[in-house]
Amino acid sequence: MNAAVAEEMQLDRGVKQFIAEQRKMLINGDWVDSASGQTLDVYNPATGDIIAHVPAGNHEDIDRAVKAARRSFETGAWTGMTASERGRIIWKIGDLIQDHLEELAQLEALDNGKPITVARAADVPLSADMFHYMAGWATKIEGNTMSLSVPYTPGAQYHAYTVKEPVGVVGQIIPWNFPLLMAAWKLAPAMTCGCSIVLKVAEETPLSALRLGELIQQAGVPDGVVNIVTGLGVEAGAPLAAHPDVDKISFTGSTEVGRLIVKAAEGSNLKKVSLELGGKSPNIVLADADLEVAIPGAANAIFFNHGQCCAAGSRLFVQENVFDKVVQGVSDQASGMKLGPGLNPSTEMGPVVSRDQFDRIKGYLDAGISEGARAAAGGKVREGKGYFMEPTVFVDTKPEMKVCAEEIFGPVVTVAPFKDMDEALVAAANETVYGLAAGIWTNDVSKAHRLAAKLKAGTVWINCYNIFDAALPFGGYKQSGWGREHGHEVLNNYTENKSVCINLA
Ligand code: NAI
Ligand code: MG
Repeated sequence: MNAAVAEEMQLDRGVKQFIAEQRKMLINGDWVDSASGQTLDVYNPATGDIIAHVPAGNHEDIDRAVKAARRSFETGAWTGMTASERGRIIWKIGDLIQDHLEELAQLEALDNGKPITVARAADVPLSADMFHYMAGWATKIEGNTMSLSVPYTPGAQYHAYTVKEPVGVVGQIIPWNFPLLMAAWKLAPAMTCGCSIVLKVAEETPLSALRLGELIQQAGVPDGVVNIVTGLGVEAGAPLAAHPDVDKISFTGSTEVGRLIVKAAEGSNLKKVSLELGGKSPNIVLADADLEVAIPGAANAIFFNHGQCCAAGSRLFVQENVFDKVVQGVSDQASGMKLGPGLNPSTEMGPVVSRDQFDRIKGYLDAGISEGARAAAGGKVREGKGYFMEPTVFVDTKPEMKVCAEEIFGPVVTVAPFKDMDEALVAAANETVYGLAAGIWTNDVSKAHRLAAKLKAGTVWINCYNIFDAALPFGGYKQSGWGREHGHEVLNNYTENKSVCINLA
Protein backbone atom coordinates (compact mmCIF):
# COMPACT_ATOMS: atom_id res chain seq x y z
CA MET A 1 0.00 0.00 0.00
CA ASN A 2 0.98 3.53 -0.73
CA ALA A 3 2.57 4.96 2.46
CA ALA A 4 0.53 8.16 2.23
CA VAL A 5 -2.71 6.19 2.12
CA ALA A 6 -1.69 4.17 5.17
CA GLU A 7 -0.74 7.37 6.99
CA GLU A 8 -4.06 8.97 6.20
CA MET A 9 -5.84 5.92 7.56
CA GLN A 10 -3.97 6.29 10.86
CA LEU A 11 -3.07 2.66 10.78
CA ASP A 12 -1.30 0.99 13.65
CA ARG A 13 2.45 0.73 13.01
CA GLY A 14 2.27 -3.06 13.06
CA VAL A 15 -0.49 -3.08 10.45
CA LYS A 16 1.41 -0.72 8.18
CA GLN A 17 4.46 -2.91 8.33
CA PHE A 18 2.41 -6.09 7.91
CA ILE A 19 0.80 -4.96 4.67
CA ALA A 20 3.96 -3.30 3.34
CA GLU A 21 5.98 -6.53 3.52
CA GLN A 22 5.62 -9.34 1.01
CA ARG A 23 3.23 -11.79 2.72
CA LYS A 24 3.98 -15.51 2.73
CA MET A 25 2.09 -18.56 3.88
CA LEU A 26 2.85 -20.87 6.78
CA ILE A 27 3.96 -24.40 5.96
CA ASN A 28 5.85 -26.60 8.41
CA GLY A 29 6.77 -23.62 10.56
CA ASP A 30 8.29 -21.69 7.65
CA TRP A 31 6.88 -18.63 5.90
CA VAL A 32 7.04 -19.52 2.23
CA ASP A 33 6.07 -18.36 -1.25
CA SER A 34 3.81 -20.48 -3.42
CA ALA A 35 5.45 -23.28 -5.39
CA SER A 36 4.38 -21.55 -8.61
CA GLY A 37 5.75 -18.19 -7.49
CA GLN A 38 2.35 -16.66 -8.36
CA THR A 39 0.61 -14.20 -6.06
CA LEU A 40 -2.95 -12.96 -5.50
CA ASP A 41 -3.93 -9.32 -5.05
CA VAL A 42 -5.67 -8.34 -1.81
CA TYR A 43 -8.11 -5.44 -2.06
CA ASN A 44 -9.47 -2.78 0.27
CA PRO A 45 -13.23 -3.00 -0.42
CA ALA A 46 -13.73 0.61 0.70
CA THR A 47 -11.69 1.84 -2.28
CA GLY A 48 -11.15 -1.12 -4.59
CA ASP A 49 -7.38 -0.50 -4.30
CA ILE A 50 -4.81 -3.28 -3.95
CA ILE A 51 -3.34 -3.27 -0.43
CA ALA A 52 -1.20 -6.41 -0.36
CA HIS A 53 -0.20 -9.57 -2.20
CA VAL A 54 -0.30 -13.10 -0.88
CA PRO A 55 0.99 -16.36 -2.38
CA ALA A 56 -1.36 -18.08 -4.82
CA GLY A 57 -1.14 -21.56 -3.35
CA ASN A 58 -2.08 -24.56 -5.48
CA HIS A 59 -2.10 -28.36 -5.24
CA GLU A 60 1.68 -28.49 -4.77
CA ASP A 61 1.52 -26.17 -1.77
CA ILE A 62 -1.44 -28.06 -0.34
CA ASP A 63 0.48 -31.29 -0.72
CA ARG A 64 3.50 -29.82 1.06
CA ALA A 65 1.27 -28.56 3.85
CA VAL A 66 -0.53 -31.90 4.22
CA LYS A 67 2.84 -33.71 4.39
CA ALA A 68 3.99 -31.30 7.11
CA ALA A 69 0.77 -31.81 9.03
CA ARG A 70 1.03 -35.59 8.67
CA ARG A 71 4.65 -35.58 9.87
CA SER A 72 3.82 -33.47 12.91
CA PHE A 73 0.85 -35.69 13.70
CA GLU A 74 2.65 -39.02 13.37
CA THR A 75 5.74 -37.89 15.28
CA GLY A 76 3.55 -36.78 18.17
CA ALA A 77 4.83 -33.21 18.14
CA TRP A 78 1.47 -32.06 19.46
CA THR A 79 -0.31 -35.17 20.70
CA GLY A 80 2.84 -36.19 22.58
CA MET A 81 2.53 -33.18 24.85
CA THR A 82 0.41 -33.53 27.95
CA ALA A 83 -3.14 -32.27 27.53
CA SER A 84 -2.36 -29.62 30.09
CA GLU A 85 0.63 -28.33 28.10
CA ARG A 86 -1.45 -28.22 24.92
CA GLY A 87 -4.21 -26.40 26.77
CA ARG A 88 -1.76 -23.80 28.09
CA ILE A 89 -0.42 -23.09 24.61
CA ILE A 90 -3.95 -22.77 23.19
CA TRP A 91 -4.84 -20.42 26.06
CA LYS A 92 -1.75 -18.35 25.25
CA ILE A 93 -2.97 -17.90 21.66
CA GLY A 94 -6.13 -16.34 23.13
CA ASP A 95 -4.00 -14.03 25.26
CA LEU A 96 -1.88 -13.00 22.27
CA ILE A 97 -5.01 -12.22 20.24
CA GLN A 98 -6.18 -9.96 23.08
CA ASP A 99 -2.76 -8.32 23.28
CA HIS A 100 -2.94 -7.51 19.56
CA LEU A 101 -6.59 -6.50 19.55
CA GLU A 102 -6.15 -3.12 17.85
CA GLU A 103 -3.80 -4.40 15.19
CA LEU A 104 -6.03 -7.36 14.32
CA ALA A 105 -9.16 -5.18 14.32
CA GLN A 106 -7.54 -2.75 11.90
CA LEU A 107 -6.42 -5.55 9.59
CA GLU A 108 -9.96 -6.92 9.62
CA ALA A 109 -11.56 -3.53 8.91
CA LEU A 110 -9.09 -2.86 6.11
CA ASP A 111 -9.29 -6.25 4.43
CA ASN A 112 -12.95 -7.17 4.94
CA GLY A 113 -14.51 -3.68 5.15
CA LYS A 114 -16.32 -4.22 8.45
CA PRO A 115 -16.57 -1.31 10.91
CA ILE A 116 -13.52 -1.08 13.15
CA THR A 117 -15.83 -0.68 16.15
CA VAL A 118 -17.38 -4.07 15.38
CA ALA A 119 -14.02 -5.74 14.80
CA ARG A 120 -12.80 -4.38 18.15
CA ALA A 121 -15.93 -5.29 20.09
CA ALA A 122 -16.84 -8.59 18.44
CA ASP A 123 -14.53 -10.28 15.93
CA VAL A 124 -11.28 -10.04 17.87
CA PRO A 125 -12.57 -10.68 21.43
CA LEU A 126 -14.72 -13.59 20.20
CA SER A 127 -11.67 -15.07 18.47
CA ALA A 128 -9.62 -14.81 21.67
CA ASP A 129 -12.48 -16.31 23.65
CA MET A 130 -12.73 -19.30 21.33
CA PHE A 131 -9.09 -20.21 22.09
CA HIS A 132 -9.61 -19.59 25.82
CA TYR A 133 -12.78 -21.66 25.91
CA MET A 134 -11.29 -24.54 23.90
CA ALA A 135 -8.08 -24.51 25.98
CA GLY A 136 -10.17 -25.68 28.93
CA TRP A 137 -11.43 -28.70 27.00
CA ALA A 138 -7.94 -30.00 26.21
CA THR A 139 -7.76 -31.73 29.61
CA LYS A 140 -11.36 -32.92 29.49
CA ILE A 141 -11.61 -35.05 26.38
CA GLU A 142 -12.78 -38.28 27.94
CA GLY A 143 -14.30 -41.60 27.02
CA ASN A 144 -16.64 -43.85 29.01
CA THR A 145 -16.60 -47.26 30.57
CA MET A 146 -19.50 -49.62 29.92
CA SER A 147 -20.71 -52.96 31.14
CA LEU A 148 -21.25 -55.56 28.41
CA SER A 149 -23.82 -58.36 28.39
CA VAL A 150 -22.65 -60.27 25.27
CA PRO A 151 -25.44 -62.92 25.27
CA TYR A 152 -23.54 -65.40 23.04
CA THR A 153 -20.63 -65.79 25.53
CA PRO A 154 -22.47 -66.80 28.70
CA GLY A 155 -20.42 -66.45 31.85
CA ALA A 156 -17.59 -64.49 30.20
CA GLN A 157 -16.60 -61.14 31.62
CA TYR A 158 -15.43 -58.16 29.67
CA HIS A 159 -14.13 -54.76 30.55
CA ALA A 160 -14.84 -52.11 27.93
CA TYR A 161 -14.07 -48.45 27.55
CA THR A 162 -13.96 -45.79 24.88
CA VAL A 163 -11.18 -43.38 24.05
CA LYS A 164 -11.51 -40.15 22.06
CA GLU A 165 -8.55 -39.86 19.75
CA PRO A 166 -7.68 -36.99 17.42
CA VAL A 167 -9.07 -37.65 13.95
CA GLY A 168 -5.64 -36.92 12.43
CA VAL A 169 -4.82 -34.45 9.67
CA VAL A 170 -7.61 -31.95 9.24
CA GLY A 171 -8.28 -29.70 6.24
CA GLN A 172 -10.23 -26.53 6.98
CA ILE A 173 -11.62 -24.08 4.42
CA ILE A 174 -13.03 -20.75 5.57
CA PRO A 175 -14.89 -17.80 4.04
CA TRP A 176 -14.29 -14.05 4.12
CA ASN A 177 -17.18 -12.71 6.25
CA PHE A 178 -15.41 -13.10 9.62
CA PRO A 179 -11.86 -13.85 8.52
CA LEU A 180 -10.16 -14.03 11.93
CA LEU A 181 -13.14 -15.46 13.78
CA MET A 182 -13.70 -18.25 11.24
CA ALA A 183 -10.02 -19.19 11.57
CA ALA A 184 -10.48 -19.29 15.36
CA TRP A 185 -13.70 -21.32 15.10
CA LYS A 186 -11.86 -23.92 13.03
CA LEU A 187 -8.36 -23.98 14.50
CA ALA A 188 -9.06 -23.82 18.23
CA PRO A 189 -11.19 -26.99 18.57
CA ALA A 190 -9.08 -29.01 16.14
CA MET A 191 -5.92 -28.04 18.05
CA THR A 192 -7.62 -28.89 21.32
CA CYS A 193 -8.37 -32.39 20.06
CA GLY A 194 -4.72 -32.86 19.08
CA CYS A 195 -5.15 -32.69 15.32
CA SER A 196 -2.67 -31.27 12.82
CA ILE A 197 -4.20 -28.80 10.43
CA VAL A 198 -4.06 -27.29 6.96
CA LEU A 199 -6.20 -24.14 6.92
CA LYS A 200 -7.12 -22.64 3.53
CA VAL A 201 -8.21 -19.04 4.05
CA ALA A 202 -10.51 -17.06 1.76
CA GLU A 203 -8.79 -15.36 -1.14
CA GLU A 204 -10.69 -12.12 -0.42
CA THR A 205 -9.44 -11.75 3.17
CA PRO A 206 -6.21 -13.61 3.95
CA LEU A 207 -4.43 -11.04 6.12
CA SER A 208 -5.67 -11.49 9.69
CA ALA A 209 -5.29 -15.29 9.58
CA LEU A 210 -1.69 -14.89 8.43
CA ARG A 211 -1.06 -12.59 11.39
CA LEU A 212 -2.77 -15.18 13.60
CA GLY A 213 -0.31 -17.74 12.22
CA GLU A 214 2.55 -15.64 13.60
CA LEU A 215 0.86 -15.47 17.00
CA ILE A 216 0.31 -19.23 16.94
CA GLN A 217 4.04 -19.73 16.41
CA GLN A 218 4.81 -17.23 19.16
CA ALA A 219 2.59 -19.19 21.55
CA GLY A 220 4.82 -22.24 21.08
CA VAL A 221 2.79 -24.48 18.77
CA PRO A 222 5.24 -26.98 17.21
CA ASP A 223 6.07 -26.65 13.50
CA GLY A 224 3.69 -28.37 11.11
CA VAL A 225 0.74 -28.53 13.51
CA VAL A 226 -0.91 -25.46 12.00
CA ASN A 227 -0.28 -24.75 8.31
CA ILE A 228 -2.00 -21.79 6.65
CA VAL A 229 -2.32 -21.73 2.88
CA THR A 230 -3.55 -18.79 0.82
CA GLY A 231 -4.99 -19.38 -2.62
CA LEU A 232 -8.10 -19.60 -4.75
CA GLY A 233 -10.90 -22.03 -4.00
CA VAL A 234 -10.45 -24.12 -7.14
CA GLU A 235 -6.65 -24.06 -7.00
CA ALA A 236 -6.02 -24.61 -3.27
CA GLY A 237 -9.37 -25.46 -1.65
CA ALA A 238 -10.33 -28.21 -4.08
CA PRO A 239 -7.03 -30.16 -3.80
CA LEU A 240 -7.28 -29.96 0.00
CA ALA A 241 -10.81 -31.41 -0.07
CA ALA A 242 -9.68 -34.16 -2.47
CA HIS A 243 -6.37 -34.95 -0.77
CA PRO A 244 -6.01 -38.68 -0.04
CA ASP A 245 -4.04 -38.10 3.15
CA VAL A 246 -6.46 -35.67 4.82
CA ASP A 247 -8.60 -37.47 7.40
CA LYS A 248 -11.27 -34.84 7.84
CA ILE A 249 -12.43 -31.69 6.12
CA SER A 250 -14.33 -28.89 7.78
CA PHE A 251 -15.82 -26.27 5.47
CA THR A 252 -17.68 -23.01 5.95
CA GLY A 253 -19.03 -21.22 2.88
CA SER A 254 -21.60 -21.54 0.15
CA THR A 255 -23.93 -24.52 -0.16
CA GLU A 256 -22.78 -24.87 -3.76
CA VAL A 257 -19.15 -25.41 -2.72
CA GLY A 258 -20.30 -27.52 0.24
CA ARG A 259 -21.67 -30.03 -2.28
CA LEU A 260 -18.31 -30.04 -4.09
CA ILE A 261 -16.56 -30.76 -0.80
CA VAL A 262 -18.81 -33.78 -0.22
CA LYS A 263 -18.10 -35.02 -3.76
CA ALA A 264 -14.35 -34.52 -3.28
CA ALA A 265 -14.47 -36.54 -0.05
CA GLU A 266 -16.49 -39.25 -1.76
CA GLY A 267 -14.17 -39.33 -4.76
CA SER A 268 -10.99 -39.59 -2.72
CA ASN A 269 -10.68 -41.28 0.67
CA LEU A 270 -14.17 -40.75 2.15
CA LYS A 271 -12.65 -38.34 4.65
CA LYS A 272 -15.01 -37.18 7.39
CA VAL A 273 -16.89 -34.01 6.50
CA SER A 274 -18.50 -31.24 8.51
CA LEU A 275 -20.17 -28.30 6.81
CA GLU A 276 -21.47 -24.91 7.86
CA LEU A 277 -23.31 -23.51 4.87
CA GLY A 278 -25.84 -20.88 3.95
CA GLY A 279 -29.03 -19.68 5.53
CA LYS A 280 -32.23 -17.78 4.90
CA SER A 281 -33.28 -17.41 8.48
CA PRO A 282 -36.77 -16.37 9.59
CA ASN A 283 -37.06 -13.69 12.25
CA ILE A 284 -40.54 -13.49 13.75
CA VAL A 285 -42.02 -10.49 15.58
CA LEU A 286 -45.22 -11.23 17.51
CA ALA A 287 -47.57 -8.35 18.26
CA ASP A 288 -46.94 -8.62 22.01
CA ALA A 289 -43.19 -8.05 21.61
CA ASP A 290 -41.47 -5.07 23.14
CA LEU A 291 -41.04 -3.17 19.87
CA GLU A 292 -38.42 -0.87 21.33
CA VAL A 293 -36.20 -3.93 21.54
CA ALA A 294 -37.59 -5.91 18.60
CA ILE A 295 -37.20 -3.15 15.98
CA PRO A 296 -33.48 -2.45 16.52
CA GLY A 297 -33.09 -6.20 17.08
CA ALA A 298 -34.64 -7.02 13.70
CA ALA A 299 -32.45 -4.39 12.02
CA ASN A 300 -29.33 -5.79 13.68
CA ALA A 301 -30.37 -9.32 12.72
CA ILE A 302 -29.97 -8.47 9.05
CA PHE A 303 -27.64 -5.47 8.88
CA PHE A 304 -24.95 -6.77 11.26
CA ASN A 305 -21.81 -7.40 9.19
CA HIS A 306 -23.70 -5.92 6.20
CA GLY A 307 -25.89 -9.01 6.03
CA GLN A 308 -22.79 -11.07 5.18
CA CYS A 309 -23.66 -13.49 7.90
CA CYS A 310 -24.79 -17.07 7.35
CA ALA A 311 -27.27 -16.67 10.23
CA ALA A 312 -28.64 -13.28 9.07
CA GLY A 313 -32.33 -12.75 9.86
CA SER A 314 -33.10 -12.11 6.21
CA ARG A 315 -36.81 -13.03 6.20
CA LEU A 316 -38.68 -10.91 8.70
CA PHE A 317 -42.23 -11.99 9.60
CA VAL A 318 -44.31 -9.46 11.53
CA GLN A 319 -47.77 -9.93 13.04
CA GLU A 320 -50.17 -7.83 11.00
CA ASN A 321 -51.36 -5.42 13.70
CA VAL A 322 -47.79 -4.17 14.26
CA PHE A 323 -46.59 -4.67 10.68
CA ASP A 324 -46.56 -1.02 9.57
CA LYS A 325 -44.89 0.12 12.75
CA VAL A 326 -42.12 -2.48 12.51
CA VAL A 327 -41.53 -1.87 8.79
CA GLN A 328 -41.29 1.84 9.50
CA GLY A 329 -38.97 1.28 12.45
CA VAL A 330 -36.62 -1.10 10.64
CA SER A 331 -36.64 1.18 7.58
CA ASP A 332 -35.70 4.16 9.76
CA GLN A 333 -32.85 2.16 11.25
CA ALA A 334 -31.71 1.24 7.72
CA SER A 335 -31.88 4.79 6.37
CA GLY A 336 -30.10 6.13 9.43
CA MET A 337 -27.06 3.87 9.17
CA LYS A 338 -23.84 5.69 8.47
CA LEU A 339 -22.04 4.09 5.53
CA GLY A 340 -18.29 4.53 5.23
CA PRO A 341 -14.89 2.83 5.19
CA GLY A 342 -14.50 0.22 7.91
CA LEU A 343 -11.53 2.07 9.36
CA ASN A 344 -13.57 5.20 10.05
CA PRO A 345 -14.62 4.95 13.73
CA SER A 346 -18.04 6.50 13.04
CA THR A 347 -18.92 3.99 10.30
CA GLU A 348 -21.92 1.79 11.09
CA MET A 349 -21.88 -0.15 7.83
CA GLY A 350 -18.84 -0.62 5.63
CA PRO A 351 -18.59 -1.80 2.02
CA VAL A 352 -19.45 -5.39 1.11
CA VAL A 353 -16.37 -7.53 0.74
CA SER A 354 -15.69 -7.60 -3.00
CA ARG A 355 -16.71 -6.55 -6.47
CA ASP A 356 -18.20 -10.03 -7.01
CA GLN A 357 -20.41 -9.78 -3.93
CA PHE A 358 -21.37 -6.21 -4.84
CA ASP A 359 -22.50 -7.30 -8.30
CA ARG A 360 -24.27 -10.34 -6.89
CA ILE A 361 -26.24 -8.36 -4.31
CA LYS A 362 -27.03 -5.65 -6.86
CA GLY A 363 -28.51 -8.43 -9.01
CA TYR A 364 -30.85 -9.30 -6.13
CA LEU A 365 -31.86 -5.66 -5.63
CA ASP A 366 -32.75 -5.45 -9.33
CA ALA A 367 -34.57 -8.80 -9.21
CA GLY A 368 -36.60 -7.68 -6.18
CA ILE A 369 -37.80 -4.54 -7.93
CA SER A 370 -38.50 -6.27 -11.26
CA GLU A 371 -40.48 -9.03 -9.52
CA GLY A 372 -42.70 -6.43 -7.87
CA ALA A 373 -41.26 -5.94 -4.38
CA ARG A 374 -41.15 -2.39 -3.01
CA ALA A 375 -38.11 -0.96 -1.23
CA ALA A 376 -39.37 0.69 1.96
CA ALA A 377 -35.74 1.68 2.54
CA GLY A 378 -32.64 1.57 0.34
CA GLY A 379 -32.83 -0.51 -2.82
CA LYS A 380 -29.78 0.98 -4.52
CA VAL A 381 -26.01 0.73 -4.55
CA ARG A 382 -23.76 3.74 -3.99
CA GLU A 383 -22.04 4.80 -7.19
CA GLY A 384 -18.34 5.65 -7.04
CA LYS A 385 -15.34 4.05 -5.35
CA GLY A 386 -15.75 1.09 -3.05
CA TYR A 387 -18.47 -1.53 -2.74
CA PHE A 388 -21.13 0.34 -0.79
CA MET A 389 -24.81 -0.58 -0.84
CA GLU A 390 -27.82 0.87 0.88
CA PRO A 391 -29.34 -1.25 3.64
CA THR A 392 -32.59 -2.37 2.05
CA VAL A 393 -36.03 -3.33 3.35
CA PHE A 394 -38.32 -5.04 0.82
CA VAL A 395 -42.08 -5.26 1.36
CA ASP A 396 -44.92 -6.47 -0.93
CA THR A 397 -42.97 -9.68 -1.37
CA LYS A 398 -44.08 -13.20 -2.28
CA PRO A 399 -42.30 -16.34 -1.03
CA GLU A 400 -41.43 -17.42 -4.56
CA MET A 401 -39.55 -14.21 -5.39
CA LYS A 402 -35.76 -14.63 -5.69
CA VAL A 403 -35.20 -12.17 -2.83
CA CYS A 404 -37.31 -14.35 -0.53
CA ALA A 405 -36.12 -17.75 -1.72
CA GLU A 406 -32.35 -17.33 -2.15
CA GLU A 407 -29.57 -16.38 0.22
CA ILE A 408 -28.54 -12.82 -0.69
CA PHE A 409 -25.68 -12.46 1.79
CA GLY A 410 -26.03 -8.69 1.81
CA PRO A 411 -27.89 -5.98 3.72
CA VAL A 412 -31.30 -6.88 2.33
CA VAL A 413 -34.33 -8.00 4.35
CA THR A 414 -37.77 -9.02 3.12
CA VAL A 415 -40.72 -8.35 5.42
CA ALA A 416 -44.03 -10.21 5.28
CA PRO A 417 -47.10 -9.92 7.53
CA PHE A 418 -48.82 -12.85 9.27
CA LYS A 419 -52.16 -13.07 11.03
CA ASP A 420 -51.75 -15.55 13.90
CA MET A 421 -49.10 -17.67 15.50
CA ASP A 422 -50.37 -20.82 13.81
CA GLU A 423 -49.35 -23.61 11.45
CA ALA A 424 -49.36 -21.21 8.50
CA LEU A 425 -46.72 -19.07 10.18
CA VAL A 426 -44.60 -22.11 11.05
CA ALA A 427 -44.91 -23.38 7.47
CA ALA A 428 -43.91 -19.98 6.06
CA ALA A 429 -40.93 -19.67 8.44
CA ASN A 430 -39.74 -23.19 7.58
CA GLU A 431 -40.33 -22.71 3.82
CA THR A 432 -36.64 -22.74 2.92
CA VAL A 433 -34.01 -25.30 2.02
CA TYR A 434 -31.91 -23.88 4.85
CA GLY A 435 -32.16 -24.26 8.61
CA LEU A 436 -29.37 -22.40 10.28
CA ALA A 437 -31.07 -19.97 12.65
CA ALA A 438 -34.33 -18.25 13.58
CA GLY A 439 -35.45 -15.38 15.78
CA ILE A 440 -38.57 -14.85 17.88
CA TRP A 441 -39.62 -11.58 19.52
CA THR A 442 -42.40 -11.85 22.11
CA ASN A 443 -43.16 -11.20 25.77
CA ASP A 444 -45.18 -14.41 26.03
CA VAL A 445 -42.88 -17.13 27.37
CA SER A 446 -45.08 -20.06 26.43
CA LYS A 447 -45.56 -18.79 22.87
CA ALA A 448 -41.80 -18.37 22.58
CA HIS A 449 -41.10 -21.97 23.57
CA ARG A 450 -43.95 -23.42 21.51
CA LEU A 451 -42.71 -21.63 18.42
CA ALA A 452 -39.03 -22.44 19.09
CA ALA A 453 -39.90 -26.14 19.14
CA LYS A 454 -41.47 -25.93 15.67
CA LEU A 455 -38.75 -24.04 13.84
CA LYS A 456 -36.34 -26.21 11.87
CA ALA A 457 -33.21 -24.30 12.77
CA GLY A 458 -29.95 -25.11 14.51
CA THR A 459 -30.18 -21.99 16.68
CA VAL A 460 -33.29 -20.13 17.86
CA TRP A 461 -32.76 -16.72 19.41
CA ILE A 462 -35.57 -15.34 21.58
CA ASN A 463 -35.65 -11.58 22.16
CA CYS A 464 -32.11 -11.40 20.84
CA TYR A 465 -30.29 -12.23 17.62
CA ASN A 466 -26.73 -12.93 16.45
CA ILE A 467 -25.63 -14.06 19.89
CA PHE A 468 -22.58 -16.21 19.30
CA ASP A 469 -20.58 -17.81 22.05
CA ALA A 470 -17.83 -20.41 22.20
CA ALA A 471 -20.03 -22.49 24.53
CA LEU A 472 -23.18 -22.36 22.36
CA PRO A 473 -23.36 -25.02 19.63
CA PHE A 474 -23.87 -23.62 16.14
CA GLY A 475 -24.78 -25.31 12.88
CA GLY A 476 -27.62 -26.14 10.60
CA TYR A 477 -30.65 -28.26 9.86
CA LYS A 478 -31.34 -29.20 6.24
CA GLN A 479 -28.99 -27.69 3.63
CA SER A 480 -27.34 -25.40 6.17
CA GLY A 481 -24.83 -28.05 6.98
CA TRP A 482 -23.60 -31.16 8.74
CA GLY A 483 -22.49 -31.19 12.36
CA ARG A 484 -22.15 -28.50 14.99
CA GLU A 485 -19.36 -26.17 15.92
CA HIS A 486 -18.63 -24.73 19.39
CA GLY A 487 -19.33 -26.11 22.83
CA HIS A 488 -18.33 -29.68 23.58
CA GLU A 489 -20.32 -30.72 20.48
CA VAL A 490 -17.49 -29.58 18.20
CA LEU A 491 -15.08 -32.05 19.80
CA ASN A 492 -16.99 -34.80 17.96
CA ASN A 493 -15.92 -33.17 14.68
CA TYR A 494 -12.25 -33.65 15.44
CA THR A 495 -12.12 -36.94 17.35
CA GLU A 496 -12.55 -40.59 16.53
CA ASN A 497 -14.18 -42.78 19.12
CA LYS A 498 -12.23 -45.95 19.83
CA SER A 499 -13.94 -48.82 21.70
CA VAL A 500 -11.57 -51.08 23.60
CA CYS A 501 -12.90 -54.43 24.82
CA ILE A 502 -10.91 -56.73 27.12
CA ASN A 503 -11.62 -60.33 27.99
CA LEU A 504 -11.09 -60.57 31.75
CA ALA A 505 -10.95 -64.39 31.76
P1 NAI B 1 -17.42 -19.94 -1.47
O1 NAI B 1 -18.16 -21.05 -0.85
O2 NAI B 1 -17.04 -20.05 -2.91
O3 NAI B 1 -16.06 -19.66 -0.65
C1 NAI B 1 -15.81 -20.08 0.67
C2 NAI B 1 -14.43 -20.75 0.73
O4 NAI B 1 -14.44 -21.89 -0.11
C3 NAI B 1 -13.28 -19.89 0.25
O5 NAI B 1 -12.12 -20.15 1.02
C4 NAI B 1 -13.06 -20.38 -1.16
O6 NAI B 1 -11.75 -20.18 -1.63
C5 NAI B 1 -13.36 -21.85 -1.01
N1 NAI B 1 -13.73 -22.52 -2.25
C6 NAI B 1 -14.35 -22.01 -3.34
N2 NAI B 1 -14.50 -22.94 -4.28
C7 NAI B 1 -13.98 -24.09 -3.80
C8 NAI B 1 -13.83 -25.41 -4.30
N3 NAI B 1 -14.27 -25.74 -5.53
N4 NAI B 1 -13.27 -26.35 -3.50
C9 NAI B 1 -12.83 -26.04 -2.27
N5 NAI B 1 -12.91 -24.79 -1.75
C10 NAI B 1 -13.48 -23.83 -2.50
O7 NAI B 1 -18.24 -18.62 -1.25
P2 NAI B 1 -18.12 -17.23 -2.04
O8 NAI B 1 -17.97 -17.48 -3.50
O9 NAI B 1 -17.07 -16.44 -1.40
O10 NAI B 1 -19.53 -16.58 -1.75
C11 NAI B 1 -20.68 -16.98 -2.50
C12 NAI B 1 -21.88 -17.09 -1.64
O11 NAI B 1 -21.68 -18.13 -0.70
C13 NAI B 1 -22.19 -15.89 -0.78
O12 NAI B 1 -22.89 -14.91 -1.48
C14 NAI B 1 -23.01 -16.52 0.31
O13 NAI B 1 -24.32 -16.70 -0.13
C15 NAI B 1 -22.37 -17.85 0.51
N6 NAI B 1 -21.41 -17.81 1.63
C16 NAI B 1 -21.78 -18.34 2.83
C17 NAI B 1 -20.93 -18.25 3.90
C18 NAI B 1 -21.29 -18.79 5.25
O14 NAI B 1 -20.76 -18.33 6.25
N7 NAI B 1 -22.12 -19.80 5.35
C19 NAI B 1 -19.65 -17.56 3.82
C20 NAI B 1 -19.32 -17.10 2.49
C21 NAI B 1 -20.20 -17.23 1.47
MG1 MG C 1 -17.21 -19.00 -4.76
